[in-house]
Amino acid sequence: MYVIEVPAYGGPEVLRLTEHADPAAEAGLVRVRLGATTVNQADVKIRSGAAAGRLGTLVPPFVLGFDLAGTLIDDAPGLPAGTVVAGFLPWFELGTGRGTYAEIVVADPSWLAPVPAGVDLVDAASVPLSAQTAQQAVDLLRLPAGATVFITGAGGVVGRFAIQHAAARGLEVIALAGPGEQDELRALGARHTVARGAPSDVTAALRRLLPDGVDGVFDTALLGDPLLPGVRKGGSFVSASQPRVPAPERGIRVSAVHGAPDGIQLGEILDRLATGRLTTRVAGVLPLDKAAEAHRQTEAGSLAGRLVLTI
Ligand SMILES: NC(=O)c1ccc[n+]([C@@H]2O[C@H](COP(=O)([O-])OP(=O)(O)OC[C@H]3O[C@@H](n4cnc5c(N)ncnc54)[C@H](OP(=O)(O)O)[C@@H]3O)[C@@H](O)[C@H]2O)c1
Repeated sequence: MYVIEVPAYGGPEVLRLTEHADPAAEAGLVRVRLGATTVNQADVKIRSGAAAGRLGTLVPPFVLGFDLAGTLIDDAPGLPAGTVVAGFLPWFELGTGRGTYAEIVVADPSWLAPVPAGVDLVDAASVPLSAQTAQQAVDLLRLPAGATVFITGAGGVVGRFAIQHAAARGLEVIALAGPGEQDELRALGARHTVARGAPSDVTAALRRLLPDGVDGVFDTALLGDPLLPGVRKGGSFVSASQPRVPAPERGIRVSAVHGAPDGIQLGEILDRLATGRLTTRVAGVLPLDKAAEAHRQTEAGSLAGRLVLTI
């Protein structure tokens, strides 16, 4: 099978199309023939070497890739061969370097969910890691309905899912919005928006809106410490990255989300997508052999959604 390999750390140009043996069947696991995968921010950090400290003994060459949408080759409980499924691989925890920039991957069936009729492979692939991380982060905040939550990077892929999950839970969402994003983020469920700017301006705007501070923050833009003055005493703060978790103060609970694959949760999310209760956003679709170009575009930032690679 063809894969896109990282032969050595470096820029997008290091990504190379190469041939690997097809994976063999493994007891308790299933093989999936991929139709689509995505480029996540983590892929860029792993490829460049910025995430090398998280890889333990794993070194290049390896294959990147978390998200997948494709067709089951093997039977799994409740998911017969031939079922169209989506999911994501816990790439860091696996430590195998066998990611989804590949024609065939091996997965634990409990990570997968059937893709409902009417959802295509491109949309399905854009969902698993980002939507599940967003939902798990909102859960980690442990806020009751009616509480306020501030979401940074709200116009990004994880941020948009987080707005929708939080609003569906009855939370009052305040979105940190870039220029021109306000209306769209309100349509997704944000009650208020705060304009991007210097951290002191952002927290001052939050305090004008909520003089006692916001109940919770989900920080997908990784702004970290400077946001704490905007959080109420005893509130909660969840970062999308462990190194950007602020030091706790005034009884604020701080933590990082680490997206974990969960086929049951993903099934519910995909059902919401199929029935129009959740939206996803795909910025572009490129073939797998254009992975380097997809990495360039992802690194350049300001993408309108996830980039999907078709296989
Ligand atoms: N912990 C986990 O399991 C997990 C899982 C998935 C993702 N993540 C992490 O979550 C983060 C977000 O991922 P994503 O896929 O949503 O990325 P994304 O689509 O690129 O979104 C990031 C958003 O943050 C905005 N942003 C960047 N700097 C900002 C600033 N200083 N102030 C305000 N907004 C700013 C970006 O805007 P511009 O592009 O216009 O700058 C973009 O809208 C990444 O760091 C990713 O690695 C973690």
